[in-house]
Amino acid sequence: MAMTGKTRVCGVIGDPIEHTLSPIMHNAAFNALKLDYAFLAFKVKPSEVENALNGMRALNIRGLNVTMPHKSTVLNFLDRVDLSAQIVNSVNTILNKESKLFGFNTDGVGALKALRENGVEPKGRKVLLLGAGGAARAIAYAMAKESDELAVLNRTVKPAQELAKLLEKLANKKIFAGSLSPKEIQQNLQDSDILINATSVGMKPKAEESLVAPKLLRPDLAVMDIVYNPLETKLAKDAKAAGAKVVSGVEMLIYQGAASFEIWTGKSAPVEVMRQAALNHLMKV
Ligand code: ATR
Repeated sequence: MAMTGKTRVCGVIGDPIEHTLSPIMHNAAFNALKLDYAFLAFKVKPSEVENALNGMRALNIRGLNVTMPHKSTVLNFLDRVDLSAQIVNSVNTILNKESKLFGFNTDGVGALKALRENGVEPKGRKVLLLGAGGAARAIAYAMAKESDELAVLNRTVKPAQELAKLLEKLANKKIFAGSLSPKEIQQNLQDSDILINATSVGMKPKAEESLVAPKLLRPDLAVMDIVYNPLETKLAKDAKAAGAKVVSGVEMLIYQGAASFEIWTGKSAPVEVMRQAALNHLMKV
């Protein structure tokens, strides 16, 4: 669609930002729905985050996605932050409504939708989550509410323990925290139904790595890896070979993006268009 004097601007801020898929997915979605919006990537240094958000107000930028390393920093400069973003101390979506900036985190709902749309229901199930970083925290919050049992393992145990303690109070259930040692992975995986890798292990250029020994994977397990580059991670390949149900990282990418799109435009996101745009791009890289 041609840009006009009425074109509304959205974007993503981060540093580095060159590899973001957000402009590809959102511009495809705006075009598909013939919305007069444009989406750009802005490289913003950590020292410029406050200026960038003041610029968002001044230039009437409608919405921003926030990525590394600004997801926590932006919380200091927003007018209101929704509960899930406050709890996980991480914002990935900002809405500008009459110069008031509202912060959201769509990673948790994105992960939940990715599972459900692919036939995996966490209700009544045990979830084993690997990682306690920004994305993992948001997923943990969603899973603590929706699943029956949750275990969080992280390379550095302390953030996993802090997260478990916080979520136990909120969700009123016992949440196990531990390390990523092979023994803890094995012990926790044996009675889990859903395994989610929310660490960066397996991401290119270290695509041959996985935290989970192939022999631990089983047909009655559902596995989601939030890493989407490569499109099929080592963990996903091993899980598929073991007969497990696999949900690709692209699914979470799409559904967190779809949730942001809906916050900015108030329209239902064209999920299939976003999926094709993301996949076409990822198949080329
Ligand atoms: P994101 O926003 O993508 O979640 P992040 O907040 O930097 O990124 O979190 C990265 C996650 O991957 C963390 O859980 C990190 O573990 P630590 O908290 O111990 O740093 C995990 N991670 C990164 N590299 C890892 C590795 N080689 N082995 C195990 N875990 C790793």
